[in-house]
Amino acid sequence: MTVGILGVGHLARSIIVRLLDSGMKPTDLLLSPRGQAPQLAARHGIPVAAGNRELVEGCPLVLLAVRPKDAVSALAGLPWTQRHTIVSACAGVTIGKLREAAPPARIVRAMPITACELGASPTTIFPDIAAARPLIDPLGPVIVLRSEEEFETATVSAAIYGWVQDLIRQSAAWIECHGVEAETARQLMARTFVAAGRMADEAEGDMETILRQLATPGGITELGLKTLERRNVSAAWSEASDAVLARLRQS
Ligand SMILES: NC(=O)c1ccc[n+]([C@@H]2O[C@H](COP(=O)([O-])OP(=O)(O)OC[C@H]3O[C@@H](n4cnc5c(N)ncnc54)[C@H](OP(=O)(O)O)[C@@H]3O)[C@@H](O)[C@H]2O)c1
Repeated sequence: MTVGILGVGHLARSIIVRLLDSGMKPTDLLLSPRGQAPQLAARHGIPVAAGNRELVEGCPLVLLAVRPKDAVSALAGLPWTQRHTIVSACAGVTIGKLREAAPPARIVRAMPITACELGASPTTIFPDIAAARPLIDPLGPVIVLRSEEEFETATVSAAIYGWVQDLIRQSAAWIECHGVEAETARQLMARTFVAAGRMADEAEGDMETILRQLATPGGITELGLKTLERRNVSAAWSEASDAVLARLRQS
């Protein structure tokens, strides 16, 4: 089965790299003719469609990865049929709007992050349609949400992924500033965040218990947490999450 990629930008490039790494042949893919399509075609030998009509005619499974503002216009007027499944990665664009633009295709919303390049993207989806899985499963652990509303809220995690990268950058820069070699500082901080994520994911017990075990009374973890709390960091974090959710609901 050929997978069509409609919108070949930053996210699509990461997904394509992963699909090829996980064993898909370049000729199992077909790219829409814009963005990074020429470079990916030259580098990996992936075919490029003459236009989006040809892409839809040749591919029962299509990834939509254009900017949210372009999602509806990119789908409209193309020869969609009941055998088509569209996986939309477009943040905030509802199933209703996509369905209206591409009847009678089935629509799945998915929110991969660029760690999909490593097969490490916790990828939220709604709804869970089997026909979409060959495109989604290689990207990392799939997290199925129960409703579109739940999916929208969970999508805030895609922004949090960027904030965490920024925390890694800031922490590494601080350590470097205090005399540790740059590459060591970056590796240490990146792996500390991976370790924290793995413990939260895999250890027994709720987060409060895990944190209580870490924050020994009078110890350094508690000292730092109290300092962050005095500066209202958790309120700022919630405010940032609220702002992202409000933007997603507006789209
Ligand atoms: N970047 C991420 O990490 C990330 C993560 C999760 C979800 N997303 C979602 O993924 C989508 C794409 O984001 P991005 O960062 O990859 O954006 P991007 O780099 O701007 O890529 C979008 C691409 O779509 C192309 N395009 C627009 N309309 C088209 C059409 N009608 N036919 C063919 N190609 C068309 C654009 O081509 P031109 O350059 O010629 O305009 C551009 O190459 C967004 O909706 C975003 O919400 C992104």
